[in-house]
Amino acid sequence: MNVFIADACGFCYGVRRAIELASHAASGTHTLGPIIHNPQVVARLAERGVSPVASLDEVSTGEPLLIRSHGVGPEVYEKASEKHLQVVDATCPHVKKAQQDAKKIIEKNKNLIIIGEKAHPEVISISQWGANRAIILDREEEARALPHMKEAGVVVQTTFSQEQFKRIKAILESKVDDLEIDMTICTATQQRQQAAIELAGKMDAMIVIGGKNSANTGRLAQVCKEQGCPTYHVETAAELDTAWFRGMKNIGITAGASTPDWIIQEVVKIMENLQADATEVMSEELLDQY
Ligand code: F3S
Repeated sequence: MNVFIADACGFCYGVRRAIELASHAASGTHTLGPIIHNPQVVARLAERGVSPVASLDEVSTGEPLLIRSHGVGPEVYEKASEKHLQVVDATCPHVKKAQQDAKKIIEKNKNLIIIGEKAHPEVISISQWGANRAIILDREEEARALPHMKEAGVVVQTTFSQEQFKRIKAILESKVDDLEIDMTICTATQQRQQAAIELAGKMDAMIVIGGKNSANTGRLAQVCKEQGCPTYHVETAAELDTAWFRGMKNIGITAGASTPDWIIQEVVKIMENLQADATEVMSEELLDQY
């Protein structure tokens, strides 16, 4: 069995930056929601005294607050300032740009359309910068159901699938006379998706590593499946079932932008051991033939 790792996978710039800021943050720092969608990383930081809270009401006056890479709406900054919190802003610069683009579209008095998952914290933050007036959609049928519009501006969730974006964009072009598109899918996501697509096209199976609650990891699994490749999404090496790979020759590995290197390495190690086992089994089978 041969094991291949995607050319681009694992921590992206924005997540690495957020984790570095969190690692250097003082014990007692709160993050508004889990710092990234990876339970193992969140647990490690909690051991160092950097832990998530669900709302600013749980943070006392003057305490340190770290804003995660997904970003937050303007009212959080206002409330944090009223409470004199020591804010460390780890919002990814790509997310900041999407937030500002949404704000500008609303200031121009255009309809704002966000292509992304309604419940995702990044999309919620972009929508809040767009004065909570956005139409949010992520499926083609939702785009088809829109009424005809004179003008609208589009902002895209940074981790959205390129392919799905193109399909929705084509529908929006037929619905809106004057359509402004701010293509805010970030290059890290594009590179990871492209590398996953290329690898999945050549593999017997793909392993996608990352939080089950991570949107970008879910997208990687989705694009691999779209290549017709059997795809297994695991959070850690402990979830791997060696029976999945029985009789297979080439296995590809990729990981979401919020998956730390140590978890990727654990999976690679197991697959390498499996490789050794498979070689042994193969030798035994060959011996049986004599
Ligand atoms: Fe930022 Fe892109 Fe990562 S938006 S958080 S660099 S996936």
